[in-house]
Amino acid sequence: MSPLQRIKSPDLLVAESGADLEGHGLKRTMGLFQLVCFGVGAIVGTGIFVGLSDSVAEAGPAVVISFVLAAITCIFTAFSFAELGGAIPVSGSSYSFAYATLGERVAFLVGWCLLLEYGVSVSAVAVGWGQYLNELLHSLVGWQLPAALSNPPGDGGVVNIPAVVVIALAALLLVRGIRESARATAVMAVIKIGVLLLFCAIAFTAFRSDNLSPFAEHGMAGVTAGASLAFFSYIGFDAITTAGEEVKNPRKNIPIAIMICIGVVTLLYCLVAVAAIGAMSADDVASKPAALSLIVNQVTDSTLGGGIIAFGAVVAIASVVLAVMYGQTRILMSMSRDGLVPRVFERVSPKTSTPVANTWIVAGVFAVPAAVVPLDVVMNLTTIGTLAVMAVVNIAVIALRRRNPDLPRSFRVPFFPVLPVAGVLFCLYLIYGTGWLTWLQFGAFLILGALVYTLYGRRNSRLGKAADIAPEVTARPEA
Ligand code: ALA
Repeated sequence: MSPLQRIKSPDLLVAESGADLEGHGLKRTMGLFQLVCFGVGAIVGTGIFVGLSDSVAEAGPAVVISFVLAAITCIFTAFSFAELGGAIPVSGSSYSFAYATLGERVAFLVGWCLLLEYGVSVSAVAVGWGQYLNELLHSLVGWQLPAALSNPPGDGGVVNIPAVVVIALAALLLVRGIRESARATAVMAVIKIGVLLLFCAIAFTAFRSDNLSPFAEHGMAGVTAGASLAFFSYIGFDAITTAGEEVKNPRKNIPIAIMICIGVVTLLYCLVAVAAIGAMSADDVASKPAALSLIVNQVTDSTLGGGIIAFGAVVAIASVVLAVMYGQTRILMSMSRDGLVPRVFERVSPKTSTPVANTWIVAGVFAVPAAVVPLDVVMNLTTIGTLAVMAVVNIAVIALRRRNPDLPRSFRVPFFPVLPVAGVLFCLYLIYGTGWLTWLQFGAFLILGALVYTLYGRRNSRLGKAADIAPEVTARPEA
C-alpha cells in the first residue's frame, strides 16, 4: 500500500483516543476559561518580550502592521484549526489532521516540521529567557552573567548556560509528572497579561508621536520581513488542539477558545508595539535585548519597574518552555504509537507514569541549539516550520470536507473554501518573508525528513503493517 493511501479515518483516530467517551483515558477537566488560559500560556513568551526588537529592526514603527499581518495569517488558519479540532478532537493536533486527510507521508512530514514548531522553539524560547534572567539579576543584585556564559558563539559569547538550565529544569518537572495544573496555568496567563498591560500603562505616559515617523522606513519589504518575525509570537495557539482529550465538551469549546485567544493576543501585541515605539525610538528598540524592561527603566528613571517586567518575563517565558516541551513529547508519543518513530518515545515509566526517556531525549537534543545557536536563527526555523504546518492544515480542512462531508462538525469555516485558500496564501507570503537562507535550511531539513520516513517510518508504520495483513480494513475509501 502506498504511503499516500495510508489514511487513518477520523473515526479510528477518535476511537483510539477515546475522545468521545467519558471516563476513558485522560480526564476531562478543562472548561472554556482554563482552555483560554492554557492557550495564552503557550503563546505569550519570547516572541513579544524579546523578538519585538528584531521585528522593529526590519519594519520600523510599521511593526504594528507586521503584527496585524501575522495575526491575519493566524486567524485564517485558526478557522481551519477550529473546524478540524472540533471534528477530530484528539491530541496529535496537525499531525493527526494530516494523517486523517492527506496520508501518512504528509503526516510524517508534518510531524517532522512540528519538531521545528515545538522542539526548536523550546531552544528559541529558552534563549529569550536568558536575556530577561540577566536583566532581572541586574536589577536585583546589580550583577549579571558574563556574555561568554549567556550568549552563543557569533553573538559575543561561548555558550548560553541559562537556556540550557531552563530546559533541564523543565525536563525535570515533566519527568516527575508535575504538569502545570489548571490553576497554575491560569495564574501564569494572568501574570503575563498583567505584566504586558503594566508595560503599556507605563510606556504610554512617555508616548511621543514623533517616534512614529518615518512610519515604514524600510518599505513593504521591511513590513513583510517584520511580519514573518512577528509571527513567532503567535505560535502556540494550536496547542489548544493538543488538549482535545482533556477538555469538557471539546467540539464546542476548542473552536471558541482558539478564537478568543487569537483576539486577545492580537490586541495585546498591537498595544505593546505602539506603546514601545511611542516611548523609545525604533532604532533604539531595535538594538536592545530585553527591550521592554529597558523602556520601563528609562520612562520611570529607576530599575524597579524594569525589574518587575523582567520578573514577569522570566516567569512567563519559563512556562512557555514547559508547555512547548510537553507538546513535543506528546507529538512524539503519537508518532511512536503509529510506528513512525522508534518505540522509545512511547515508553512510559511505571514509576512516574511519564515518558521519561522521551523527555530527556527531547531536552538533550534541543539544549544543543539553545546553547550555541543565535536566537534569530532558531526563531526563523521555528517560524518557517510552523508556517508550513499551517499551510497543510488549511489544505487538510478542504480535503476533509471532500473526503468526509458528513462527519459531525461543531464548527464550520465560514466562506469556505475562500478562507482556507487565503490561509495558504498568507502562510506562503510569510514564508517568503523569512528569507533565502531560512528557505535553504528548511529545504535541507525537509529532505532529511523524507529520507527518515523512507528508511524508517514507512517500513515500521503500524497502519502499513495492518494494511498488509487486512487491506480491506484500512484501504482508502472513495471520496
Ligand atoms: N509564541 C511563543 C513565544 O513567543 C513561541 O515564546
